[in-house]
Amino acid sequence: MSLTWNTRVEIPADVDIIRDITLRAFGRQVEVDFLDALRADPIAWLPGLSIVATSPDDHPVAYSLLTRCHIGDTAVLSLGPVAVLPAYQKQGAGGASVMAALATARDRGERSVVVLGHADYYPRFGFRQATEFGIHHPQYDGPNLMALVLDGHAVPAGDLVYPVNA
Ligand SMILES: CC(C)(COP(=O)(O)OP(=O)(O)OC[C@H]1O[C@@H](n2cnc3c(N)ncnc32)[C@H](O)[C@@H]1OP(=O)(O)O)[C@@H](O)C(=O)NCCC(=O)NCCS
Repeated sequence: MSLTWNTRVEIPADVDIIRDITLRAFGRQVEVDFLDALRADPIAWLPGLSIVATSPDDHPVAYSLLTRCHIGDTAVLSLGPVAVLPAYQKQGAGGASVMAALATARDRGERSVVVLGHADYYPRFGFRQATEFGIHHPQYDGPNLMALVLDGHAVPAGDLVYPVNA
């Protein structure tokens, strides 16, 4: 089932709700700690790229985050965490938050996005295997590492450098 979802940039009142969404979606603390570390890092965190999809009463139910990372010396974005409250999964909320985050990044002139996630979920947004671009992760090389071109230019090849490790 796919519904139309409202999306918006997070507001301060959302921060604890987003932590709760992340905890309940993943069922463990690791991704919440990662999210907190990204939020606290002045290089990684870019205001305006933390996006929620909301229920009709404006309560966040899904979340997508884009943060700064680099491929070699080139600034790109990293997508994640992406999380949806279990009761709202597979209803389009996650997809809506991802698409809103990517559209915002494109509007800001960002060039490309990488994600380490489900290899059968992110291709629907245009992500392709990172190996096609010659992109390498410091700890992982496999089908879950993907990249997306936002601006029509080639994604640079090289090694990913993250300010915060997952
Ligand atoms: C993965 C997740 C973000 C997807 O968001 P969602 O709102 O449930 O999914 P959407 O409604 O946008 O899209 C539904 C589609 O995604 C697929 N999908 C959902 N969860 C998936 C998963 N874990 N792996 C692969 N595909 C998945 C569904 O099968 C469905 O496919 P279809 O359109 O071909 O029928 C969400 O289910 C979630 O939070 N899961 C737990 C946390 C997680 O795994 N986060 C992502 C880490 S990479």
